[in-house]
Amino acid sequence: MRFIVCLSAGLAIIVAGLLKAFGHVPLLEAFRRTLSVVSLFLLMVGGLDGWVRFCSVKLRTDRWYFRPVDLYISGTLLLGVGLLQPVEYIGSFPLIVLVLLAFLLMVFSFGCAFNLRWRISATKFEQHCRSAGVVSGSGEPPDFIAEFSRGRAVTLYFRPRGTDRERMETERLANEYNGHFESFHECGAGSYQYDYGTGTLPGRFELTVKEAVNRAQAAAHADAAPGRGQLYIGESFSRSVVITLTEMVHLLIGGETGCGKTTVLLGLIRQLIAQCVDIVLIDAKGTDYKGIESKLKAYVFESEKFLSLITALVSKMDERYQQARTGSDDFVPLVLVVDELADVVSGKDGKEIQLGLERIAMKGRAARIHLILATQRPDVRVLDGQLRDNLPCRLIGRLKNLDMSVKLIGSGASAKLPATPGRFIWSRGLDELQVQVPLILSEGESG
Ligand SMILES: Nc1ncnc2c1ncn2[C@@H]1O[C@H](COP(=O)(O)OP(=O)(O)OP(=O)(O)O)[C@@H](O)[C@H]1O
Ligand SMILES: [Mg+2]
Repeated sequence: MRFIVCLSAGLAIIVAGLLKAFGHVPLLEAFRRTLSVVSLFLLMVGGLDGWVRFCSVKLRTDRWYFRPVDLYISGTLLLGVGLLQPVEYIGSFPLIVLVLLAFLLMVFSFGCAFNLRWRISATKFEQHCRSAGVVSGSGEPPDFIAEFSRGRAVTLYFRPRGTDRERMETERLANEYNGHFESFHECGAGSYQYDYGTGTLPGRFELTVKEAVNRAQAAAHADAAPGRGQLYIGESFSRSVVITLTEMVHLLIGGETGCGKTTVLLGLIRQLIAQCVDIVLIDAKGTDYKGIESKLKAYVFESEKFLSLITALVSKMDERYQQARTGSDDFVPLVLVVDELADVVSGKDGKEIQLGLERIAMKGRAARIHLILATQRPDVRVLDGQLRDNLPCRLIGRLKNLDMSVKLIGSGASAKLPATPGRFIWSRGLDELQVQVPLILSEGESG
C-alpha cells in the first residue's frame, strides 16, 4: 500500500510536469490542487503509522535512532511543499528541472519517507525466522518492528505473535544473520529485543594497563556513573565490555581451573591501581601476585589473618556510614579482592568470614566498598544464597556443571564455552555476553 502511494505521488508530479509542458494550465491547476490534498493526507497517515511503530517500542533516546524518522518527516514536508507551489512558480523552471525534482523526490520518498530499508529488513527477518524455525504454531514468523546496527552490534525489535520464547532465543536465528547470538529480552509494550554481534572474538591478546583504561573510558556510556574505577573487561562479538566500579558494585568470578580467573583479577587490580583506587587482596594460594603486593593497601595470604582483615573492613564500612550521616560521602573507593574464595571460607573461621563478606555485599555500595570474589566452585558451600544474590555482576568461565551455569548466569552458556583461556560469560542485568578477556600487562612487562 505504502509503495503504491509513494509511486503514485512521484508519477503525479511527472504528470503535472507533462501537463505544464503541453500548456493545459487550468487542468494542471485542478490536478495540482486535488493531488496536494490527497498526497498530503496519505503521507500524514503513513507518517503517523511510522511514529506509532517507533513509539510502541521502548527505544533508547539515542539521537541516531531517530534519524530515519527525521528523514521521513523531511520527505513528507518536501513532497507536500513541492506540490503546493503555485503553478506559475513551477512554470518558471525548465521542464528538465521539474522532471529531475520529481525523480529526486520519488527516490527520496522511496528510500526515506517509506523506510524502504526497513521493508527489506522486514522481509529478510521473516525469511530468516522461517528458515530458523522461529514461527508460531500456525507457521507465522514474529512481527518485525525495527532493526538497528551500530558497529558490530545489531538489535532487532519484534513482537512474537505466538512464537514460543525458547525458539525465539535460538542460535540458529543469529546464524541466519551470520552473527553470534548475544542476548534476548522483553523491552516493553509486548515487544522483544534480540541482539547479535557480527564481529569475531579475538584469541589471546595483550594490552598495557594504560591501553585498557583508555579503552574503558572510550567505550563508557555518556551516562555512565561518575567516579574512579573505569574497568575494561574484554571484547564480545558486538562490542567492548566496560563497566564502572559504581555500576558493578560487586563482582563474582567463577570457572574451572586454568580458565583465567587469576589473570582477570590481576588485570582488574592493575587498572584500579592506575586509577588510584585502594585494593585489599586476600590470596589463599599466596603465589600468584608477586611484584604487585607493594602497590596494594593490604595483602594477606596467611589463613589466620583472613578474619581480622575482613572484620577491619566491616568496621571501616560502618565508620564510613557514620561519616556519611554527618558529613561528606565522597569516599575513595576500596576494593576487597579475594582469590580462591573456597579456601578462604573453608578454614576454621569460615563461618565468620562468610558473614563478614555478606555484610559488605549487602551494605558496601553506599560506603564505596566493593567485592571482587573468585572461586573455582561457586557452589552453596562456598557462596551461600544470600551472598550470591548480592553479587550482581558475574564473569563465569568454563564450568563442567550445567546446573551450576544455570544457577549463576541463568543459562547453560558457561557449560558450552570453548576451553580457551580468558574466555568468559559476562552477565549483568540483561547482558549475557561471551567475552575474551585480555592479558593486561603492567608497564614495562611484555608477554
Ligand atoms: N586472558 C587470557 N588470555 C590468554 N591466556 C590466558 C588468559 N588467562 C589465562 N591465560 C592462560 O591460562 C593460564 C591459567 O590462568 P589462571 O592462573 O589465571 O587460571 P585460574 O582460573 O586462576 O586457575 P586456578 O583456578 O587454577 O587458579 C595462565 O597461565 C595463562 O597462560
Ligand atoms: Mg587462580
